[in-house]
Amino acid sequence: MEILNYLPRDLLQDKSVFITGGGSGINLGIARNFAALGANVGICGRTSKKLEIARAELEALGARVSTSVADVRDYDEIAKALQECEKTLGAIDCLVCGAAGNFLAPAENMSPIGFKTVIEIDLIGSFNTARAAFDQLKETRGSIIFISAGQTFGPYFAQSHVGAAKAGIDNLMRCLAMEWGSHGIRCNSIVPGPIAGTEGMKRLAAGGYERKWIEAIPLGRFGTVNDIGQMAVFLASPLASYVTGAHIVVDGGQNLPGSGVFGQLISESLGYQ
Ligand code: COA
Repeated sequence: MEILNYLPRDLLQDKSVFITGGGSGINLGIARNFAALGANVGICGRTSKKLEIARAELEALGARVSTSVADVRDYDEIAKALQECEKTLGAIDCLVCGAAGNFLAPAENMSPIGFKTVIEIDLIGSFNTARAAFDQLKETRGSIIFISAGQTFGPYFAQSHVGAAKAGIDNLMRCLAMEWGSHGIRCNSIVPGPIAGTEGMKRLAAGGYERKWIEAIPLGRFGTVNDIGQMAVFLASPLASYVTGAHIVVDGGQNLPGSGVFGQLISESLGYQ
C-alpha cells in the first residue's frame, strides 16, 4: 500500500522506533510509515517467519531493522528484545505498544483463562514493554504510543475482556504521561476504528456484515493501516512535542455517540437512507 508523501522524507532520520506485534497488521503499517520517513525500526512478535517477511519490506524502504521473537506477556523476553534492538539501532526514540489479542466471546461463555489471556497480552504486555523501555526513552526523551480501541469508551457485545484491557491501557497511558513527563517522555494512545485487512477485523466482522459495518461509520469506509501509521508518525515527531496524555481517535467517526444503529434508525426515519 502506497505511503502518502505529505511529510518531509527525513522527518525521522536517525530516529529509532520499537513496535510490539510489528510483524503484521496495523503495527506493520505503523512500521512502514516510520521507515518511509527515515527511521530505523525494531519489531517483535511471536512468529519469526512473519518478522522476517516484514524485515525485508522495511529494509526495502531504507530502514535498518532489528527483529526479535518475544511474547510481551513475559517481561524477560520483552526486555531482551529491547536490549537487542538498542544494540543494533541505539536507544529508541519511540515505543509503540501494539501487540494485542482478541476473539468474540460473550462473558457467560468465556473461560477465565480466555479473559486473563487478553488482559495479559494487551494490558500487562503494554506495561511490561513500557517499563522495559523506560531507560532508553529517558535517554532520548522519547515517546510512547499505546494502541487502544473503541472498546475503551464503552461496552461492546462479546468484548468484555478487550474493553477491560483497553480501558486499563488508557489509564496506564495517562499515569505514565504524568509520571514520566518530567523526563521529557510523552505518552499517548491511538484509538483505531475498524481497519481493513487486519486480523482484528477478520475476527470481529466475520459473517458477511461488512456493508452494515460501513453504514455505521460516518466517513463511510473502513480505515487503512496507513491512516493509523500517519497518526503514529505525527505523534512521534516534533510536530506533536507538546502532546501528552491524549487519546487520539482515528476511526472515521465510528465511536461518536449516536453513530451506528441509533443514528441509522433516526436517519432512516427522516428518509435520508
Ligand atoms: N472463544 C472463546 N475462547 C477463546 C477463543 C475463542 N474464539 N480463542 C481462545 N480462547 C480461549 C481459549 O479457550 C483459552 O482458554 P481455555 O484454556 O480455558 O480453553 C484461552 O483463550 C487462551 O487461548 P490460547 O489459544 O491458548 O492462547 P494463546 O496465547 O495461544 O493465543 C489469543 C492468544 C487467544 C488472543 C489468540 O487468539 C491470539 O494469539 N491472537 C493474536 C492475534 C489477534 O488476536 N489479533 C487481533 C488483535 S485485535
